[in-house]
Amino acid sequence: MPNFFVTGGAGFIGSAFVRLLLDELPACDVVNFDALTYAGNPDNLSDLEGEARHRFVRGDICDPRAVLDALGEATDYLFHFAAESHVDRSIESAREFIRTNVLGTQVLLDAARARRVRRFVHVSTDEVMGSLGEDDATFFTEDSPFAPNSPYAASKAAAEHLVRAAHHTFGLDCVVTRCGNNYGPRQFPEKLVPLAISNATADDPVPVYGDGRNVRDWIYVEDHCRAILAAAERGRAGEVYNVGARNERRNLEVVEAILDALGKPRSLARFVKDRPGHDRRYAIDPAKVERELGWRPRETWESGLRKTIRWYADHADWVARARSGDYREFYARQYGAS
Ligand SMILES: NC(=O)c1ccc[n+]([C@@H]2O[C@H](COP(=O)([O-])OP(=O)(O)OC[C@H]3O[C@@H](n4cnc5c(N)ncnc54)[C@H](O)[C@@H]3O)[C@@H](O)[C@H]2O)c1
Repeated sequence: MPNFFVTGGAGFIGSAFVRLLLDELPACDVVNFDALTYAGNPDNLSDLEGEARHRFVRGDICDPRAVLDALGEATDYLFHFAAESHVDRSIESAREFIRTNVLGTQVLLDAARARRVRRFVHVSTDEVMGSLGEDDATFFTEDSPFAPNSPYAASKAAAEHLVRAAHHTFGLDCVVTRCGNNYGPRQFPEKLVPLAISNATADDPVPVYGDGRNVRDWIYVEDHCRAILAAAERGRAGEVYNVGARNERRNLEVVEAILDALGKPRSLARFVKDRPGHDRRYAIDPAKVERELGWRPRETWESGLRKTIRWYADHADWVARARSGDYREFYARQYGAS
């Protein structure tokens, strides 16, 4: 029976991944280690109450004692999702990003070695590779040079370097996945897709940065999670796998697709002052993950978006709780009071 240790499993992608493990593997043991920061939401795990295969531990990945205590001696796979993950917040202050994303990753690598974890799976982002030209038809590959442009991306790039060093220097079995923009259920409401759905549903304007022409490569969260599991099971030690669904969309196009699907006027899209240093285009070449791991996304943009919109419509209570408190203050600072 495989033992899994998941960091950040109360967040958006981590909670989807924990659910995927429990769905796919009838016999498994999952320790879910999460500090429950503003982005960690116990509501994301409420349907797992009473699930004997899942144990939630509240703890900080920067605390070596807490990590070692929770990790135990028999972990097969450590999946590292925990991070400060919002670019805009990293522009306000990079401090927590360096602490969690850099120091925290090193603490986990050290603990994984001490506890002889079989494989360390590090969840990274395409943002470590910087920005592509708007119309130049180039793509990020696993060999693209690092060129992080935001404090968030820089902290994730540093984390990847530490993972690489742990593999190279100490022989720790590590695999890295780098993905583009995820969308789906349980995403923190300050991110574009849930923000657009919530605001549009309430007939509020939907903020769109700059001219709305920035391009992101969108993937349904469960498809990303399946790729991470495939990398754990079939990936080669020391390798990086770029994960993408060949689904480039301009931000304005994403917002308009949501407004159309909800039957709301496109005039609700409201251009706001651009984010400083806003990367123009991310686009992933997923040939390696497709070829080596046999992975393919299951959802199209249309089917994934339909499922996502339905989930938010059916979970108004989740949205209301996630939108309270810290998020409100952030929203007012970022886009002005609404
Ligand atoms: N969201 C995306 O589109 C995307 C794309 C590519 C890669 N990623 C990466 O995937 C991972 C998960 O992203 P997400 O969108 O689910 O993030 P999220 O912000 O929704 O969740 C992060 C989780 O980490 C936890 N956490 C934060 N600091 C911690 C600490 N010090 N100790 C323990 N737990 C802590 C939070 O409580 C939260 O539950 C991140 O590493 C991110 O860089 C995200």
